[in-house]
Amino acid sequence: MTRVAVVGCGVVGSSWTLVFARAGFDVNVWDAAPAAAGNTLAFVADALGARPANVRVCASLEEALDGADYVQESAPERVEIKRDLYRRLDSLAGPGVVLASSTSGLPASSFTDHLANRARCLVVHPINPPHLIPLVELVPAPWTDGHVVERAATVMARAGQAPIRLAREINGFVVNRLQGALLGEAFRLVEDGVCSAADVDKAVAEGLGLRWFFMGPFETIDLNAQHGIGEYCRNLGPMYYGLAKEQADPREWNARLVGEIEGEYRRKTSAEDLPARRAWRDRCLVALTEAKRRVLGA
Ligand SMILES: NC(=O)c1ccc[n+]([C@@H]2O[C@H](COP(=O)([O-])OP(=O)(O)OC[C@H]3O[C@@H](n4cnc5c(N)ncnc54)[C@H](O)[C@@H]3O)[C@@H](O)[C@H]2O)c1
Repeated sequence: MTRVAVVGCGVVGSSWTLVFARAGFDVNVWDAAPAAAGNTLAFVADALGARPANVRVCASLEEALDGADYVQESAPERVEIKRDLYRRLDSLAGPGVVLASSTSGLPASSFTDHLANRARCLVVHPINPPHLIPLVELVPAPWTDGHVVERAATVMARAGQAPIRLAREINGFVVNRLQGALLGEAFRLVEDGVCSAADVDKAVAEGLGLRWFFMGPFETIDLNAQHGIGEYCRNLGPMYYGLAKEQADPREWNARLVGEIEGEYRRKTSAEDLPARRAWRDRCLVALTEAKRRVLGA
């Protein structure tokens, strides 16, 4: 049985604690702010409908690492905080312990280069909140041991998550690069007056997103030509190449455009109603994920 240490338990660390607890791991929880780990325990108890016997709130980092063989670090996204924390983690944790960071955008090389045992460090990046969204991105630093990536993948699979592996560090990892490409085009279409922001949302929610909910863009095009992806690319590759050239000038998301879109969205959902709308989104995620499991048998 793997004992996991969740280090830093704000938004993401709390969700990680639920992921590990419901999968049956023993979980040690520690946060630099004394009240935070208690709040995490309350959050997990509320989600599970009972106080979990396998979650231990720890008074120190040393206690959190006691017996743990995998650490999921979710401290603030500040490189100097991570550098200092990893120095402590590296000196306190036994050499075989995997140190995984939830960082959204910092490469592991930016906060582990100074460590004696840096080969056991990597990024395990969740999509928030990981207890509702299974994908995680495993991103090694140049010095991460391949076995460490393997072990992180095994822990994630046992926790019920869906890991993907990047061969190397890259800005934005995979998910935010894909999302960034789509958002860049979405802003361009609205800025150029081609369609409204609401219609961009509709194009995804009522169109592309229906297939993307259970398969990716490559499988989508593999099924969209009689003989598969090769035929699709031969037929439509030149058109997409032309589009890519039109999309090749990166644009800032300027304040005027953002203000217009924000005005439209605050008319749709007022600032006070945003928490309720997020709760609605999470209920949809739970229901649709259950339906997806039933339909796909996964
Ligand atoms: N929020 C998201 O959508 C999201 C998604 C994916 C990844 N992440 C990443 O997860 C990490 C945490 O983000 P968050 O949104 O949960 O932040 P958060 O501010 O909600 O939580 C951070 C927690 O770390 C604690 N902390 C501060 N200094 C610490 C230290 N030295 N050691 C241990 N704990 C410390 C804080 O008390 C706080 O509870 C970041 O690296 C972030 O990039 C966030």
